[in-house]
Amino acid sequence: MMRQAGRYLPEYRDVRARYPSFLDLCYTPEAATEVTLQPIRRFGFDAAILFSDILVVPDALGQPVRFEQGEGPRLAPLSGGAAIAALTPERIASHLAPVFETVERVRAGLPDEVTLLGFCGAPWTVATYMIAGQGTPDQRPARMMAYGEPELFQQLIDILVEASADYLIRQLRAGADAIQIFDTWAGVLDEDGFRRWAIEPTRRIVDAVRAEIPGTRVIGFPRGAGARAKAYVEGTGIDAIGLDWTMPLAFARDSLQPVTAVQGNVDPLALLSGGRALDESVDRILETLSAGRLIFNLGHGILPETPIAHVESMLKRVRKGTG
Ligand code: CP3
Repeated sequence: MMRQAGRYLPEYRDVRARYPSFLDLCYTPEAATEVTLQPIRRFGFDAAILFSDILVVPDALGQPVRFEQGEGPRLAPLSGGAAIAALTPERIASHLAPVFETVERVRAGLPDEVTLLGFCGAPWTVATYMIAGQGTPDQRPARMMAYGEPELFQQLIDILVEASADYLIRQLRAGADAIQIFDTWAGVLDEDGFRRWAIEPTRRIVDAVRAEIPGTRVIGFPRGAGARAKAYVEGTGIDAIGLDWTMPLAFARDSLQPVTAVQGNVDPLALLSGGRALDESVDRILETLSAGRLIFNLGHGILPETPIAHVESMLKRVRKGTG
């Protein structure tokens, strides 16, 4: 499940309460390992995902990140060529050493047959937070910079490509079996921007990672890509695409599954609601997509208020449906 280690689990809240900030938890290998393993122990998922956040990359680049309780991430907004030139991609190895240690510990603690996923944010999505300094509804600040100062914006994207590839390669060397690249804000881009800022940088990361570690399996998550999902798969070279819950299942079956594996796509609100809506959503996904390559998942992150009983009921139905 997307965000499978998180606040909906009481055992996560217990560990989280011992750390003053969310990033302290991410940078403490023993604790980050424990919360990564919690959902595997409780639910027996096929894959664990490293417990960290996409915004540890700007933190390593010298733009410190804080998480305000209940309000999401805060950074000092990045602007101007001097600030971009001062970013420090060479600090990925040292600043994120605790994350690589977490990967080693998790791999050692997982059964052999459970996949460990490493991850990063895609350059576009990470850049939207770096420029706005926080989440925004439509990513206006980053879009305005991409239109108004495209050369400068490209410099930022280039730094993020380099830092993200380095970050992923180090996670793979530490024991990650495959990687996922989250482009949560890909859907707000226009046609040209989608090619230039979502597809192209992700393709460069995929190529750089595979040049170091041939055959690396990559899952992409271009949220909101809609009809552009096929161009995204073909343009980036990913092996599987995460589908958000708005993606029509017949399109996924007819246009995506012939070229890629698909992952998704229960609406986190259907999981929160439970009952018949959840059952029907699970059944539709299995009926439409399980003849092709399917990784059953949510279409975005699980919400903190989700009852654990709803997760259990979803898993029971999926496991019955897929034998
Ligand atoms: O279990 C997992 O999936 C692994 C951990 C993980 C987190 N964040 C932990 C987290 C992963 C893969 C992410 C990715 C991430 N982070 C994305 C891309 C995927 C997506 O959900 O769209 C984005 C955009 C972020 C940035 C981010 N991190 C935001 C906007 C927030 C605040 C919103 C919120 O849910 O609180 C976070 C915080 C965050 N990242 C939490 C967790 C468990 C909650 C912090 C806490 O426990 O106090």
